[in-house]
Amino acid sequence: MQAFQVNAPQDYRLVETEIPDAAPGEVLVSVAFAGICGSDMHIIHGDNAFVRFPRITGHEFAGVVESVGEGVEDVAIGDRVCIDPVINCGHCYPCRIGRPNVCTALEVIGVHRNGGFEERVNVPAGNVHRLPEELGLDAAALVEPYTIAANVLDRMQPHPGDRLLILGAGVIGLTILQVARALGIEDVTVSDVIDARLDTARQLGATRTLNGAEQDVEAEIQALTDGEGMPLIADAACVPALLPQMLRMASPAGRIGLLGFTPTPSDLSQLEVIKKELTLVGSRLNNRKFPEVIELMASGRLDPLALISHRLPFDDMPGAIEMLDHHPEKARKVLIQIGA
Ligand SMILES: NC(=O)c1ccc[n+]([C@@H]2O[C@H](COP(=O)([O-])OP(=O)(O)OC[C@H]3O[C@@H](n4cnc5c(N)ncnc54)[C@H](O)[C@@H]3O)[C@@H](O)[C@H]2O)c1
Ligand SMILES: [Zn+2]
Ligand SMILES: [Zn+2]
Repeated sequence: MQAFQVNAPQDYRLVETEIPDAAPGEVLVSVAFAGICGSDMHIIHGDNAFVRFPRITGHEFAGVVESVGEGVEDVAIGDRVCIDPVINCGHCYPCRIGRPNVCTALEVIGVHRNGGFEERVNVPAGNVHRLPEELGLDAAALVEPYTIAANVLDRMQPHPGDRLLILGAGVIGLTILQVARALGIEDVTVSDVIDARLDTARQLGATRTLNGAEQDVEAEIQALTDGEGMPLIADAACVPALLPQMLRMASPAGRIGLLGFTPTPSDLSQLEVIKKELTLVGSRLNNRKFPEVIELMASGRLDPLALISHRLPFDDMPGAIEMLDHHPEKARKVLIQIGA
């Protein structure tokens, strides 16, 4: 079977591998669609500290169960599924308090072990989620990025009527926008520095958009909120220099959701945090958000197909990586069709 393997930074290719048997406690999934994420690009560029090479990447995928391993009871051959990439130990401190996505022994499918960019992949039976009939396998491959949005919004604890500012209208910003709207957050401002991305944000329900390259976003937010500031700010731009500005734009008692993985420090004012009693929360992957997102998607309250800019056959995967390397602004979600 075919697999997309990263051998070392910048060294990737499609390779032929043996079809594995389903491992004990695991299921063998015949992958239908897999999405390319910024984190796959980070692995390819060699700036993901967790990955071990060679690696078959891909943590956003959906397919059909082809066989089940010993001891697997509640998943059956033929089940249409998508896969939660979070594998946790179950007994460390974060696991014990219900935070498996920051398990001290966290393993992420597609990062620490092989993922969805191959025709068949073994995954733990507990990580698969059966899909309702109305959900296509293409849309289901996008459940994972929406769980990022559901997770950060949960961490930010919205109150009814809260306004939300989202920095960045890439795929993650747009999933936050859609999930926020689906959860009843009505007033959503989105900022970016690329007009085309802001156009998409408005099409997907943003109340207003701000172009940070042309407008003074901070002044606009102060004017919009009569100087009170934003109760909710989600950072899907993840530019370290924006963090001090986020503190200034937040309202007293505001909550700021952070998603960035960059190690570059930001220049924060303690005073800004303390005088307004701000809450800054980190959000990593997802804490059991698959069922909620699958339900929102199946009920039509999310529009995952609107995020797909390219659908490409598996053979075009290396070309897709080159396109994303040179023209990331041209793409939203690139979906690779792996199997039938
Ligand atoms: N914590 C997590 O679990 C998690 C999961 C997935 C992605 N991420 C992170 O989320 C971020 C967004 O992911 P993505 O795939 O949407 O990336 P992306 O690059 O497509 O989107 C980022 C957007 O921010 C915009 N931007 C740049 N500078 C800006 C500014 N000054 N103001 C407003 N917008 C600005 C860019 O134009 C772009 O549209 C990445 O940094 C990624 O690493 C985190
Ligand atoms: Zn991802
Ligand atoms: Zn654990």
